[in-house]
Amino acid sequence: VRLGHELDNLAANAQQESKALIQKEFEGFQNIFNKFLQGSGTSIDWSKIQKLPDGSVRDYKTLQSPQSSAITAMLSKLVVVKLNGGLGTSMGCRGPKSVIPVRNDLTFLDLTVQQIEFLNRTYNADVPLVLMNSFNTDEDTEKIIRKYAGFKVKIYTFNQSRYPRISKDHLTPVAKTPNTKDDIDAWYPPGHGDFYLSFDNSGLLNQFLQEGREYCFISNVDNLGATVDLNILNMLLNPENGQAPDFVMEVTDKTKADVKGGTLIHYENHLRLLEIAQVPKEHVEDFKSVKTFKIFNTNNIWINLPGIKRVLENQTLDMEVIINNKTLDNGLNVIQLETAVGAAMKCFDGGLGINVPRSRFLPVKKTSDLLLVMSNLYSLRNGNLEMSPLRMFPSTPLVKLGDNHFSKVKECLKRFETIPDLLELDHLTVSGDVTFGRNVSLKGTVIIIANHGERIDIPSGANLENKIVSGNLRI
Ligand code: UTP
Repeated sequence: VRLGHELDNLAANAQQESKALIQKEFEGFQNIFNKFLQGSGTSIDWSKIQKLPDGSVRDYKTLQSPQSSAITAMLSKLVVVKLNGGLGTSMGCRGPKSVIPVRNDLTFLDLTVQQIEFLNRTYNADVPLVLMNSFNTDEDTEKIIRKYAGFKVKIYTFNQSRYPRISKDHLTPVAKTPNTKDDIDAWYPPGHGDFYLSFDNSGLLNQFLQEGREYCFISNVDNLGATVDLNILNMLLNPENGQAPDFVMEVTDKTKADVKGGTLIHYENHLRLLEIAQVPKEHVEDFKSVKTFKIFNTNNIWINLPGIKRVLENQTLDMEVIINNKTLDNGLNVIQLETAVGAAMKCFDGGLGINVPRSRFLPVKKTSDLLLVMSNLYSLRNGNLEMSPLRMFPSTPLVKLGDNHFSKVKECLKRFETIPDLLELDHLTVSGDVTFGRNVSLKGTVIIIANHGERIDIPSGANLENKIVSGNLRI
């Protein structure tokens, strides 16, 4: 009751024109807050996890390629959605993450637009690109996308909701006014599970349904492997047994580096996403096991558009609440309640997992990921990053760069005169004040550690193969 009162006060102070929107967002917030109070999103009952039924996760290799004459018509049924609500702060950048240059001075957004333009030109198609922005990213994104005006890609944007952060001690909003700019820290975008409601509220869902579009392909804008896959689209539009799933989650084989990723389980007779936050403490190690849970969610998701409408109209959309505890710069402890887009899988008819090649999961979360995608391990073709055929093994090297000197994009890139040759690298660890000259080559396992107060400059042209470089120690 107290929260409702506080929200009413905030809404009452808003400008007339934004009142309706704020009211709608607050309704969404009240829903998630009620779920939180009821304890939704807490642990699942481990004993109720059923074995994945045969056929619930399909091997990508079994999918058929479409006839080339059918592709234009298939693409007229598709909408591509990129989740673009996040900032580049974790990589030390200001503004939307999607505008960080990742390869040949091209940003995540540039590459996405290139990919879709190539598709549209090749097949004489008109696949639209939809960006889900947040209040953190919309202003900058709107300015930046003007440069794509002459491209053969129609770009649409909509804003996800803005929810108030809640004081952990009092469970009331920390915002004093409804204006984000008065105190930006008082608000947050509530995770990508917000897609369903915001997409519908924006009017775009209805518009695409009227155009006769059938599926949307949603992915994280920072996943460079999330390209439109024609075999998956073909499976959805021309199902072999006549019945297409409403919801497809692309999963891939888990390695020891992915143990925290969400996985698919069969639970209460539905296929659903299980996130580590929902795992009872005593089963966390089971959850992380690469043997028990062999796959994880790439967050590349294909959903039937009439199916989304149905779930919303029937009010059967139900996603577990993710509780994100934060401490603001002023020391205040707050909670933000979020949802994940994949958590809605269980609400759709006929959910399906597809086990896709690892190449469809190429996220750039850290500067070490950036180093890999900028290097000669990849080449760029029509906006797609392809692993170089000169790489002997399909796996990417394991790279760890020290937090103090390498975690921010600008500072990290200053330390490399040119990106080293990584074609034969297995493992690289760099720590401390280290710089790299031009045309350095790193092979096998290379460890470079500059202790506090020291600096190591790897000279231009150096060829380091299975080497440890540390202060005076050079093996
Ligand atoms: P994150 O980068 O925050 O999440 O968002 P993550 O933990 O690494 O990955 P997931 O959530 O497990 O997949 C992933 C994508 O979702 C967008 C970000 O911009 C990024 O593209 N996002 C995230 C939103 O659009 N809105 C949000 O509220 C949160």
